[in-house]
Amino acid sequence: VTFDLVLVGFGHVARRFVELLAERRAILQRDFGVTTRVVAVATRQHGRAQAARGLDVAGLSRAVVRGDRIGPGDGEGTAGFVASAVRRHRAAAQAGRLVVVEATTLDIARGEPAITHVRSALDGGAHVITTNKGPAAFAYRALARAANRANRRFLFEGAVMDGIPVFNLVRETLPAVRIAGFRGVVNSTTNFILTAMEQGQPFEEALTEMRAMGVAEADASLDVDGWDAAAKTAALANVLLRASMTPHDVERQGISAAAGRRAVEARASGRRLKLVARAGRESGRWAARVAPEELAEDDLLAGLEGQQNAIIFHTDLLEEFAIVQRSGSLTQTAYALLSDLVTIATHATSRPPPRARPRRTL
Ligand SMILES: NC(=O)c1ccc[n+]([C@@H]2O[C@H](COP(=O)([O-])OP(=O)(O)OC[C@H]3O[C@@H](n4cnc5c(N)ncnc54)[C@H](OP(=O)(O)O)[C@@H]3O)[C@@H](O)[C@H]2O)c1
Repeated sequence: VTFDLVLVGFGHVARRFVELLAERRAILQRDFGVTTRVVAVATRQHGRAQAARGLDVAGLSRAVVRGDRIGPGDGEGTAGFVASAVRRHRAAAQAGRLVVVEATTLDIARGEPAITHVRSALDGGAHVITTNKGPAAFAYRALARAANRANRRFLFEGAVMDGIPVFNLVRETLPAVRIAGFRGVVNSTTNFILTAMEQGQPFEEALTEMRAMGVAEADASLDVDGWDAAAKTAALANVLLRASMTPHDVERQGISAAAGRRAVEARASGRRLKLVARAGRESGRWAARVAPEELAEDDLLAGLEGQQNAIIFHTDLLEEFAIVQRSGSLTQTAYALLSDLVTIATHATSRPPPRARPRRTL
C-alpha cells in the first residue's frame, strides 16, 4: 500500500522522519508492504508545497535548513491548507491511505492550531500521527471520538518518551489491566540540568548545552517551567487513566538556578532532586502534579542521569512496572512517527469500525 503523507510542520522531527522513511524503505516494503510519498508540506515561515505525485522531500529539507522558502504561504493559512489537501486526496483518504503528520510546535495556551489540524484531517477521512503533545493533552477525548466516527486512527506515540513504546505498550499488551496512576521523570532537559547542577555546572550553561543539542523545546521556558512535563502528564492521564484534564489542571512547579543548591544538598545527604510528574486518584478525583522532589537514592527515578526518562505505572493486576529511556535523540522521536505509521498499515484497514469508546482509538 502506498501511503500519501501530508506533513504539517517540517522542522527537526518531520525532516528526520522523512530521512528515516528513506533509510528504512526496504524493510517497510518487505515486512509491512508499506511505501510512502509526501504529497504536501506546510510550515509557518518557510511556505508550503504540494504535488499529487510526490514531492522531493530531500530537496525541500535542504532548502529549509538553508533558510529558503519551499513555496508561498505562512502559518496563518495552515488549517485551510490541511483541509484542502485532505479534500484533494479524497480517494486516498477513502481508501485509508492518507496520513496527516502533525509536527508543529507545542502551544501551551490551548494546544492550537494543532488540534484544528488533527480534527480537520480526521473529519476528512485521514489518519493522524503526531509528536505534538498539544492534541492529546488538551483534547484527547474529542479527537478520539472524531477518529472513531471516521474509523481512522489518531496516534501520538512520540508525545511522551519519543519512540519508546508507552501508549503502544499499554494498548497492545495490557488488555483489561487498570492503570491507577503513575509517577515519572518525563522531561530530558530539566533532568540534564539538575544532574549537571549537582556537579557544580551553572543552570544557564547546562540549558545552553541542551539548546545546542536540539533537545530543549524551541521555547526553553516550556521545559524549565515544567510545562512540557505538565503536557505529557495530561496526555498520559487522559489516555491511560481516562481522566479529562489539560496541562493547566496539572499543579506545576519548574526548576531554576535556585534548584541547583537544593540538588547539591540533596546529593550530599544521599538523596537526589528530580522533577517528578505524577497523577493518580486523590479524594475521589484525578490529581496531577509536576514538581521537584527529593528522592531516596534507591528510588528508580533517582538513578536517572542526564537526559534519561522513566515512568513507573501503578496497576491493579501487574502492580508496579516501569519503562526507562536510557538515551534520547531526534531519531527516536522520528521513529515514533514511523511506528505509528506501521500501526496504521498493519491494523487500521483490517479492523472493523470501533465502537464509541475513546480508548479504543488510541
Ligand atoms: N525535537 C524533539 O526531540 C521532540 C521530541 C518529542 C516531541 N517533539 C515535538 O514534536 C513537535 C515538532 O518538534 P521539532 O523539534 O520538529 O520542532 P521545530 O524544529 O521547531 O519544527 C516545528 C515545525 O512546525 C512548523 N510550524 C509551527 N507552527 C506552524 C503552523 N501554524 N503551521 C505550519 N507549520 C507550523 C515550523 O515552521 P517554521 O520553521 O517555518 O516556523 C517547523 O517546520 C513539537 O510539538 C515538539 O514538542 C519534539
